[in-house]
Amino acid sequence: MKHKSILAPSILAADLSNLAQQIRMVELSGANWIHCDIMDGHFVPNITFGPIIVKAARSVTKLPLDVHLMIENPDDYLEDFIKAGANSVTVHEEAVIHLNRTISEIKNLGAKAGVAINPSTPVSALEDIAEYVDLVLIMSVNPGFGGQSFISNSLRKVTEVAELRKRRNANFLIEIDGGIDTTTARPAIDAGCDVLVAGTSIFKSNNISAATIELINIIG
Ligand code: DX5
Ligand code: ZN
Repeated sequence: MKHKSILAPSILAADLSNLAQQIRMVELSGANWIHCDIMDGHFVPNITFGPIIVKAARSVTKLPLDVHLMIENPDDYLEDFIKAGANSVTVHEEAVIHLNRTISEIKNLGAKAGVAINPSTPVSALEDIAEYVDLVLIMSVNPGFGGQSFISNSLRKVTEVAELRKRRNANFLIEIDGGIDTTTARPAIDAGCDVLVAGTSIFKSNNISAATIELINIIG
């Protein structure tokens, strides 16, 4: 039987002036991980926050912190984020030259290691890293902003990643990120996703708890 799906609310869309309360609300409603979107204004055209916010999140929840680095030169910051409390660190394939080295370093520092690909990057780019990662993140919007609409060919990519996992006898989780809401969540699970990130559809809704519970019920 398939394991339980994981819901990872992204605090990018949260009211950061009430971070503790916002995290508590999704945690009490059954969310599984907290997704932290790190943007540097270079890899993506937006700047969000760094390790000090991850550390603040760490101090208010026991849930795993899933750190998504949308930054150039992620190698320079791995230790900072893991010391701040990241349980998993995901780097972009497009931002890293020596991906094997980066993945090993994340693991050596004691975190789970993930690799993300943009909507225009083919799944074939993951062929030779598949067996070394704990997580593969398929971007279903172009990274940089919350609240964008879901790019539907991401579902085909999820299916391809699931095939890759099987073919390589790998055992990473498949995560999807961008535009996940009550209409896209179920198709994403059916395509083979294990982890769903959701920002806007949870934190910008008028009832954060109800939105979290609704998504959990949909993904099962
Ligand atoms: C996009 C980020 C996503 C984003 C998802 O660049 O990586 O994690 O917060 O937000 P929604 O759910 O609003 O698309
Ligand atoms: Zn993200």
